[in-house]
Amino acid sequence: MNFQLGLIGYPIKHSLSPWIHETFLEKTNLKGTYSIIEIEERSFAEEIEKLKKRDIDGFNVTVPYKEKIIPFLDEIDPQASAIGAVNTVQNKDGKWIGYNTDGIGYMRSLISKYPELKKDKNIAILLLGAGGAAKGILHALVENGYTNITIANRSLDRASELAKANGQIEILPLNDAEANLAAYSLIIQTTSVGMKPNADRSIISLTNVRKGAIVSDIVYQPLVTNFLKEASFHGARIHFGHTMLLYQAQYAFEIWTGIKPEIGTMDDELKTILEG
Ligand code: ATR
Repeated sequence: MNFQLGLIGYPIKHSLSPWIHETFLEKTNLKGTYSIIEIEERSFAEEIEKLKKRDIDGFNVTVPYKEKIIPFLDEIDPQASAIGAVNTVQNKDGKWIGYNTDGIGYMRSLISKYPELKKDKNIAILLLGAGGAAKGILHALVENGYTNITIANRSLDRASELAKANGQIEILPLNDAEANLAAYSLIIQTTSVGMKPNADRSIISLTNVRKGAIVSDIVYQPLVTNFLKEASFHGARIHFGHTMLLYQAQYAFEIWTGIKPEIGTMDDELKTILEG
C-alpha cells in the first residue's frame, strides 16, 4: 500500500508535519507521501470537495480549519466531538472520520518524560489558558482520571465555560494562580503567550513555583520559552512543547496506518531543527 497523506491549513508552508510523517514512514518501512495542501479560506469548501475526489488515505487539519472541517465529515470520534475540533481525518473505505489527537498526544508526551505521573492521579494540576489547546488537554487529563485540576485564565467567563463542561474543576484569575503557585505540582501553559515574535512575554511569573514541580509549555518557538527558563531557574522540572507535536503526530499516523512508530531520537532531531 502507498499511503497518500497530507496537511490542510493556512498558512502551512513552514509546517514541521511533513518531516515528522516522512520520518515515521521511513521508520515503519511503509511507502507513502505526506503533502502540504495549503487552502485559502475563500476557496475552502471547493477545495475540500476536490480533496474528497482524490484518493487520500488521511490528512491532518490545522489552523484555521479544525472546526470548519466538521460539516464535511461522515463520522466524528466522541473525543473530537466533545472538544469540538478535528486535527486528523481518516479516509476509511471512502468515509471521512474525524479525530482529535492533540490531547492524547500531549498526555503521551508528558508521560513519556515523567512516567511517575501515570500513577499520581491526584496531583494538583494548574492549567493556564482556556482556548482550543486547553480544551483538548483538559479533556485528555479528565479522561485519564486526573481529578485535581484548576484552570486559570485571563477571561474568567471562558475558564468557567470550560470548567463546566468537564466536571469538578476550580477556576482562578491569573494573578491568584501566580500568588498560589506553590500549591501545584504540575503547571501546564496552553496559550500562545511567549511564542515568537513575542518571546519576551510570559503568561504569569513563576517566582512562587514549588521546587521539583513539573512546568510544561506547549509553545515550542522558541524551544526554551521564557516561561520554561524561569521555571528551571526556580528549581522546577520542565517539559518542552515540541514533544506534543511529535506524539500527536504519532497517534495520527497510528490512526491512518495501524502502526505506532517509535519516537526514539526524533525528540532531539526536532530540537536541532527548531534551534536552526
Ligand atoms: P488556541 O486555540 O490556540 O488555544 P485561542 O482559542 O484563541 O487559541 O485561546 C487563546 C488562549 O490564550 C486563551 O486562554 C486566551 O485568554 P482569554 O480567554 O482571556 O482570551 C489566552 N491569551 C491569549 N493572549 C493572552 C494574553 N496576552 N494574556 C493572557 N492570556 C492570553
